[in-house]
Amino acid sequence: MIHLFQKGTDQKAPTLLLLHGTGGNERDLLPLGAMIHPASSVLSVRGNVSENGMPRFFRRLAEGVFDEQDLIFRTKELYEFLDQAAVEHGFDRNNIVAVGYSNGANIAASLMFHYTDALKGAILYHPMVPRRGVDLPALQGTPVFIGAGKNDPICSPQETEELTRLLEGAGAAVTLHWEAYGHQLTEREVQASAAWFRENCL
Ligand code: MLT
Repeated sequence: MIHLFQKGTDQKAPTLLLLHGTGGNERDLLPLGAMIHPASSVLSVRGNVSENGMPRFFRRLAEGVFDEQDLIFRTKELYEFLDQAAVEHGFDRNNIVAVGYSNGANIAASLMFHYTDALKGAILYHPMVPRRGVDLPALQGTPVFIGAGKNDPICSPQETEELTRLLEGAGAAVTLHWEAYGHQLTEREVQASAAWFRENCL
């Protein structure tokens, strides 16, 4: 997968896996990585799917309607890429915290829906429920921060609460942070996730 790797100064800190939103690329979230923990190594990946030239991490059939087979395939592809990237760049495969926005948050949530050991933790900005009707793997104690907007037209507050319940049902320790806005990422939300990261992931 097309990606950037930046080695951090703190080798014990989790590597931040940055996953952009629809139409973004591997450079988009670099400033966020620096705000969350500047000493961490960063692995920033570009989605392998193109929707009319806009990179995404998996196909969708319509706005908010996911191509489930492609989601499963792309989730496995990303999971296997993490194994390879850890060897290639020499970071600890078992110490990765995902930081994803929108479509990137959805593939990060999908990693947790399908694999018990994919991620050490996750910061999900404006995520949706990636799949329904499946049993989640054990996620005992996995720290997850969800940033959401009370007026998000793409991801409703009900869906945010549903995702929280599903992750908590699998044992994850979820912190839910609300903003009064829509789908956009806010500075306050990023600051809250950075404080959460320092408390829960270091
Ligand atoms: C998705 O397709 O993953 C969600 O609708 C969010 C987005 O617009 O990318």
